[in-house]
Amino acid sequence: MILFLTLHTVINSISIFSKDGFNAACEFMGTPIVSFMVPILAFGFIVHIIYAIIINIQDLKSRGGLSFKRYAGGSKAKADSWSAQNMIVLGLLIIIGLGLHFYDFWLHMQYQLFTGGTVEPNPYGLLLKTFGNIWICALYIVWFVVLWLHLTHGFWSAFSHLGWNNDKWFKRLKVISYIVATLLCGALALVAITNCLRFNGILPMLTA
Ligand code: HEM
Repeated sequence: MILFLTLHTVINSISIFSKDGFNAACEFMGTPIVSFMVPILAFGFIVHIIYAIIINIQDLKSRGGLSFKRYAGGSKAKADSWSAQNMIVLGLLIIIGLGLHFYDFWLHMQYQLFTGGTVEPNPYGLLLKTFGNIWICALYIVWFVVLWLHLTHGFWSAFSHLGWNNDKWFKRLKVISYIVATLLCGALALVAITNCLRFNGILPMLTA
């Protein structure tokens, strides 16, 4: 998922500099090799959610359930970051954001490709119009902040589950997580804001 998000962010970032470049990149996203990845990604996403719910239930049980006992002693909650304690809520907010996002973009593009409908011929125009609405742009920014919080914990946690959790790497991975999450979410926010400013005449429109 992190790899997908990185590729997706790189492609979206092209829209800051070039509309033709972004449209061409979207065409690449519609090629069979990339479309093939989508069901695999969706499967990974579902496994990720089920696994997260199971881990949370186990965690609640081991900490004494949803009672005050959980905070009374033996809990490592205080040692965890805010993000670590709220991963499930952050994850749910990300799913809600994805619903909005699919409605805005995916429904007009890849979904049309899958169902034999008419694919949006100008993805950049769709992006510009979407972020041109200041309220939608603001909702996306909130979504990126939620994603940032989720990634700052999720990224290093993924590596720590793979065994990279010794004292030396623990701190390094945390720093790397913050850098990666900030680069990804910062670039996504820049895409939304620059195109919002363009649509509303504050920045000049792209010519090519
Ligand atoms: C500035 C922010 C973003 C823009 C402009 C953007 C743009 C797009 C576009 C144009 C599509 C349709 C591509 C197609 O159907 O060919 C799409 C699909 C998708 N986006 Fe985003 N996206 C953004 C942020 C995100 C974020 C933060 C996530 C994940 C948390 C995400 C996940 C997806 C997924 C899973 C799809 C469906 C798979 C695909 O079509 O490639 N996107 N996005």
